[in-house]
Amino acid sequence: MPSPDRRPHTLRRLLFGVLALVTAVAATVGGCVAVTYTRADVSTVGKVDFTRELAIPPLATGVTEPDGTRVFTLDMRRGRTEFRPGKPTDTWGFNGDHLGPTLRARRGDRVRVDITNSLPEASTVHWHGMRLPAAMDGGPHQPIPAGGRWSPEWTVAQPAASLWYHPHPHGTTESHVRRGLAGMFILDDAEAESLPLPSAYGVDDLPVIVQDVRFAGDALDGSHRMFRNAGFLGDQILVNGTLGPYREVGDELVRLRLLNASTARVYDFGFADDRTFAQIGTDGGLLEAPITVDRVRLSPGERAEIVVRMRSGERTVLRAGTLDAGLDFWNQRFSGGDDSFDILELRAAATLRPSPGLPAALVASSTPDGTDSVHERAFDLEFAGINGQPMDMNRIDFAVTRGTAETWTVRNGDGMPHNFHVHDVRFRVLTVDGAPPPPEFTGPKDTVFVPPGSTLRLALRFDGPADPNTPYMYHCHLLWHEDQAMMGQFVVVEPGGSAGVVPRHGH
Ligand code: C2O
Ligand code: CU
Ligand code: CU
Repeated sequence: MPSPDRRPHTLRRLLFGVLALVTAVAATVGGCVAVTYTRADVSTVGKVDFTRELAIPPLATGVTEPDGTRVFTLDMRRGRTEFRPGKPTDTWGFNGDHLGPTLRARRGDRVRVDITNSLPEASTVHWHGMRLPAAMDGGPHQPIPAGGRWSPEWTVAQPAASLWYHPHPHGTTESHVRRGLAGMFILDDAEAESLPLPSAYGVDDLPVIVQDVRFAGDALDGSHRMFRNAGFLGDQILVNGTLGPYREVGDELVRLRLLNASTARVYDFGFADDRTFAQIGTDGGLLEAPITVDRVRLSPGERAEIVVRMRSGERTVLRAGTLDAGLDFWNQRFSGGDDSFDILELRAAATLRPSPGLPAALVASSTPDGTDSVHERAFDLEFAGINGQPMDMNRIDFAVTRGTAETWTVRNGDGMPHNFHVHDVRFRVLTVDGAPPPPEFTGPKDTVFVPPGSTLRLALRFDGPADPNTPYMYHCHLLWHEDQAMMGQFVVVEPGGSAGVVPRHGH
């Protein structure tokens, strides 16, 4: 006679076995997550030997044609760069192996850039922060095929600023920029030139292009590690393409044009000795007055101009500390918020040339203040798409009227770090979570960090020119997010006009 409790007994055993298995799997997964978590942060603080002199990208002022057009030439090409002596790395660059020359022009200049794409694939060149016709913008609608050429031209019609240029091909921007295609574009004007600011390029006025990289054999690694939903994050820093850079300075005041040209990383810059410094400019130009700060936070694409006072013979290190931006536990770790880096060592000469003191006032504000806005729009930043819609090359999201100002409310309710960049315009941040913004946000901006849970109101003016069929982009400048379609398109139209139709592309 079969035992009456045999079945329950077997069942109990089976259940116990399943439970043990589930527990073991959970423990393994949990263990892996824990190990991944604890290994996810990076710090190079105190570990960088500053043994290489900071490279200064060559300055290109162009060639002036008989009609006065200032012509620059850029060749996009593959190269090899020895970031580490004796270990060449495959890179891409403009006119060289990595990065590109600093282009420089003045307000009022007619400029043209003759570009050749010698890369094995199509790309574009976008003039980040530049006010110019949409057809010259170099966004995804102006592809340059492999082997092709493109010669955009426009008239510089905006104040002195530190802009930059980089590829913007839809879906592959992160990989093109990460390989080294980026350069600065400095604009000058009479107002800025009349101010006693450090302005000798490469002497007391230094471009500081900051990018995080990771080496993988003879290539720059582009893989996204587990849970890194911000995109690519590197474990070492290049400044102007130099690994572990130092720079000797011979002046009391040194101006740094900081550009976050990294694909996803947000930096909280300061100095190792916590010294204060002056911030004099933001993305789109000078502030109304210098402000004294000890930190400056830049998300990808943002710029800041700062002036640091040096004492003879001293050394100080530009450092990026951990981020305090309200990221949740998970994103804080996996989006790089817990990371810290030693970036650049400044070495003051034993005797310094005296610099004039910074002026109390810089320039009058040139951004709208929101009072003449004729339209309100809201932008919800989500990884899945802005306002729930992924980018579509053939969809114009809205039209703005040439000559008018608008107020845009940008909200990040997504949990991930995002920022917001608008082509063609320089905007003012009116409020951050309903409160007046910190003073550095009152300067002209074209890109702004929008931490999770925050809401920013921006005032923008669209000066045109109008082109109903060629869109400008607005997007998250974490480049993988942009590639994944966190982007939208607007056109500028004449009063009473409406959006046209985007010419069809082959893809
Ligand atoms: Cu710096 Cu739409 O880009
Ligand atoms: Cu841009
Ligand atoms: Cu984003």
